Amino acid sequence: MANMWKSLLLVAIYVVASPVDADTLDVTKYLQPGHDLSQALATAWKEACASPGLSKLVIPGGTYRLGEVVLSGPCKGPVVLQVDATLVAPVNHNEIKGGGWVTVQNVDQFTLTGSGTFDGQGQYAWTKNDCSKTWNCLSLPINLRFHFITNSLINGITSLDSKQFHVNVLGCRNLTFQYLKITAPGDSPNTDGIHIGRSNGVNIFNVQIKTGDDCVSLGDGCQNVNITGVTCGPGHGISVGSLGKYPGEEPVSGITVKNCTLKNAMNGLRIKTWPASLRGTASNMHFEDIVMDNVGNPVIIDQQYCPWNQCKKNAPSLIKIQDVSFKNIRGTSSTPEVVKLACSSQFPCKNVQFGNIDLVYHGDKGPATTTCTNIRPAIFGNQNPPLCRDLA
Ligand SMILES: *[C@@H]1O[C@H](CO)[C@@H](O)[C@H](O)[C@H]1NC(C)=O
Ligand SMILES: *[C@@H]1O[C@H](CO)[C@@H](O)[C@H](O)[C@H]1NC(C)=O
Ligand SMILES: *[C@@H]1O[C@H](CO)[C@@H](O)[C@H](O)[C@H]1NC(C)=O
Repeated sequence: MANMWKSLLLVAIYVVASPVDADTLDVTKYLQPGHDLSQALATAWKEACASPGLSKLVIPGGTYRLGEVVLSGPCKGPVVLQVDATLVAPVNHNEIKGGGWVTVQNVDQFTLTGSGTFDGQGQYAWTKNDCSKTWNCLSLPINLRFHFITNSLINGITSLDSKQFHVNVLGCRNLTFQYLKITAPGDSPNTDGIHIGRSNGVNIFNVQIKTGDDCVSLGDGCQNVNITGVTCGPGHGISVGSLGKYPGEEPVSGITVKNCTLKNAMNGLRIKTWPASLRGTASNMHFEDIVMDNVGNPVIIDQQYCPWNQCKKNAPSLIKIQDVSFKNIRGTSSTPEVVKLACSSQFPCKNVQFGNIDLVYHGDKGPATTTCTNIRPAIFGNQNPPLCRDLA
């Protein structure tokens, strides 16, 4: 440990001007012996952000402590932050006041890249998580928050052991995540991989997620989100929702999930809305070419989503679900109910299509089954097991 703190003295953050930009800033002067990197990074960010043309900040390999940091725009030119180091968060969540360990906000043309790791050190904070006990639970810090970011790229980095969600996306437009690794234990609470809300044009390509909650969760106001080449598990699957818990939620539409593999995940593809909910819609959602390997509830629409029984389960959900397709979904299930479609009695699901489903259950709890409530899906191609026999 002592060595790690000592190496802090050696840390260098460079600001490298682009070829077309005459400014070169040496930020090592911002380093203060005995401190973590947050002040140096904030200062370097300010310089880069104020400089016209492309600016590049580099945190080279090594291991450094990093406290809470907020990197705000608008900036005068594009900024690249390359992280090749392992950055280590404070163990105690109370040292992070603002909800996020690293927050980037109000920036256009931002790039976060590199082979580095953001280590949230969540082990201690997880023991303080009380979300299974109370509706308004303690809000623990998120590793990386991208709020109101446009035309930007997040590439290559690793998020490890976040105290809560690994990545939160809010109010973004044209933002791509690619080649990320997101890792936390399967039993770490509320460690969603990437949570997106109120954003338009978010792409997630080739991201590997092993975590304790949803691998990807899409909250209200998600529009035009493409998820391709994600591997998920352990984790709770790829989820739309939960929706209908809060007032003023915006519609979800234009979701594509393609070429993804789920392995040893608690759920597969899930759309979840709260019963007794407020009004809303989720539409135009397409799931295609998905492989399940020992996954619970491979396909599930759950309009009675009520974790820890914190709601009135018998009142119908008021979220309208329509224009949904599931195509080429195959593999093995760890639960006998391989397809469960539990739609709202108030607003039955509309225009839901199933094509070429092949889901096998090898366990000892009986044959593979499917259930359909308040839905009449359109069926084409092969269905194994036959989907909702009673509707044939
Ligand atoms: C989206 O952002 C990328 C940068 O990641 C940029 O190259 C591209 O032109 C943007 N697309 C649109 C439609 O603005
Ligand atoms: C998502 O994919 C679809 C089809 O592959 C494409 O038409 C659409 O432009 C993509 N959306 C974004 C935000 O890249
Ligand atoms: C499909 O996803 C895998 C990762 O699971 C990726 O390696 C591969 O490139 C993807 N293929 C296509 C066509 O996107």
